[in-house]
Amino acid sequence: MIEATDRKQEAIVADFPILAKLTSRGKRLVYLDSAASSQKPRAVIQALVDYYENDNANIHRGVYELAARATDAFESARAKVARFVNAADTAEIIWTRNTTEAINLVSFSWGLANLGPGDAILTTQLEHHSNLVPWQLLAAKTGAELRFIPADRDGVLALEHLDDLLAGVKLVALAHISNTIGSIAPLDVIVARAHAAGAVVLVDAAQSVPHMPVDVQALDVDFLAASGHKMCGPTGIGFLYGKRALLEAMPPFLTGGDMIKRVSYETTTYNELPWKFEAGTSNIADAIALGAAVDYLSDIGMDWVRAHEIRITAYALAQLRAFESRGLAVYGPPRAEDRAGVISFNLGDIHAHDLASILDTEGVCVRAGHHCTMPLMEKMGWPATARASFYLYNTEEDVDALIHALEKAAQVFRLT
Ligand code: ALA
Repeated sequence: MIEATDRKQEAIVADFPILAKLTSRGKRLVYLDSAASSQKPRAVIQALVDYYENDNANIHRGVYELAARATDAFESARAKVARFVNAADTAEIIWTRNTTEAINLVSFSWGLANLGPGDAILTTQLEHHSNLVPWQLLAAKTGAELRFIPADRDGVLALEHLDDLLAGVKLVALAHISNTIGSIAPLDVIVARAHAAGAVVLVDAAQSVPHMPVDVQALDVDFLAASGHKMCGPTGIGFLYGKRALLEAMPPFLTGGDMIKRVSYETTTYNELPWKFEAGTSNIADAIALGAAVDYLSDIGMDWVRAHEIRITAYALAQLRAFESRGLAVYGPPRAEDRAGVISFNLGDIHAHDLASILDTEGVCVRAGHHCTMPLMEKMGWPATARASFYLYNTEEDVDALIHALEKAAQVFRLT
């Protein structure tokens, strides 16, 4: 069993050409920044090349064979994404550039049409700026109030006052997984209580869809947003899932070609779902390549991906804890099972950027800074953190390389 897992792991690493490259200092590339953007397997890179070499044409427009092939490939990628998150209907998947654009779509379309003075939006203290700034703007525009579910030091949401917080709330918008601390929101509890209070729920799933099985029907979420580039796909493509009835009732977000059925000089009839929300020529190639990424992840199995990340995270937490006596502070839930493969830390008084630069000299790539969660950093009193994040291609050897690089940083800063 362990051997089979090891063999699978080796085969996965070999699927990612970039992982075989050396850094300019001749070090093995140890990529621990998948929460920012994942690496791409050969199958995804090849899907882009195949599309441009064999099928490239605009979609939904040409009557010729090439355009029909491009349209089929584009729409079949949408169907793959729909199956991947178990949407009831392929038309419930709207292509966007990324999670941020998907959230903005909901804010500008659903939000402006449904919120007004006296209403409230409930989010959390853990959010990425992408799931905060759109709601600040919406609140300012509509006169709605913006409220926050508090989080504790480990990034665990405090739900004692949830029912009070939900009074008058029309929208609950929260991250499934914190991109800074790695804590996992108890969606089952929050979605049920939000619905009981009459609110619609939007989930920022940028950090969950790539890393664990996500079933939008089982979760019963109303909207869910994710990005292709964090799930082995290309940049510039993401998606919004929305329940059909909500999407049907919403006005368009961006307007122009493709999102129309009929246009006169005076007025326009909008297209059906999902195209009502897809104005202009779409990111065809990247959508198709995201379909290839979904095939790749589905073949491996999202249960395997989650189990693997728990294994690597447990190993990393144990190794990092051994470093605590040297001034390392590790943030987030203590048990790997309760969190995602995202670990923020600080070493002594070393600024996280300096720490990340030293790790980089050893080939270890981690993100450092505020991770697009400035209010959370301020609440926690962390000027910045270094953050290691894992994916299906990371190994225990990668964790060992991180620890070795931390040793070097401790020596450079004379923490030993
Ligand atoms: N949201 C991405 C991150 O957390 C960019 O790094």
